[in-house]
Amino acid sequence: MNLKTKSAILGFGVLALAGCNTDMWRQPKQEPLDASEFYADGAANRPLVPNTIPRGYARQDDAYYVGAENGKWLDGLPAGIKVNLALLQRGRERYNIYCTPCHGQLGDGQGMIAHRGFTLKRPVGNYHTDRLMKMPAGHFYEVITNGYGAMFSYASRIEPQDRWAIVAYIRALQLSQSASPSDLKPEELQSLSAKNETHDRLAQK
Ligand code: HEC
Repeated sequence: MNLKTKSAILGFGVLALAGCNTDMWRQPKQEPLDASEFYADGAANRPLVPNTIPRGYARQDDAYYVGAENGKWLDGLPAGIKVNLALLQRGRERYNIYCTPCHGQLGDGQGMIAHRGFTLKRPVGNYHTDRLMKMPAGHFYEVITNGYGAMFSYASRIEPQDRWAIVAYIRALQLSQSASPSDLKPEELQSLSAKNETHDRLAQK
């Protein structure tokens, strides 16, 4: 390739690059939050069309999303949530992650943060008081969603489905601290006392 050809190619390349134009950058447009003379309200941002909701946020089911129906807390879980072992295990897992630091593994309000003096004026709630034993399930859901007094909201960290799993597990915790032998079927009682005997025998060794 001689010098003439080389410089011709180079020259063509330079011309081609110079031909790139920047109209797309320079077009009239507004950046977010710019002022605008075009719209009557003087703002470039347009308000949302009234009554629009992001996809997946319609949340019309108050029982499920609020924990209350017709202004009353739900007494039990919303229809459609099945209480089974998987739900309770999920609830226990989430409870142990988010609630035990203050409420303790038993739900008696004796978590490590409580011991270190999280709130001196308002002690951490104890789920085994008479008042909370009788409290409808919807109240627990509400406390997780919106917080309560000195306790902050967990809505941004715990999805509604998991809030209900935690509520179910709290009910199990409450039962665990106040169950009496008469709550069990005779065969369950028998297998329990058999286990206890084994335990006692082992303990004596
Ligand atoms: C950082 C500490 C902390 C964590 C973590 C925490 N709580 Fe609480 N909780 C409190 C305190 C403090 C109170 C008492 C608030 C008050 O009376 O002002 C309370 C009160 C409560 C009550 C009682 C409400 C009533 O009617 O008296 C419930 C129920 C409850 N919490 C549930 C939960 C659940 C479920 C979680 C986990 C998702 C959780 N809390 C996590 C500190 C905490």
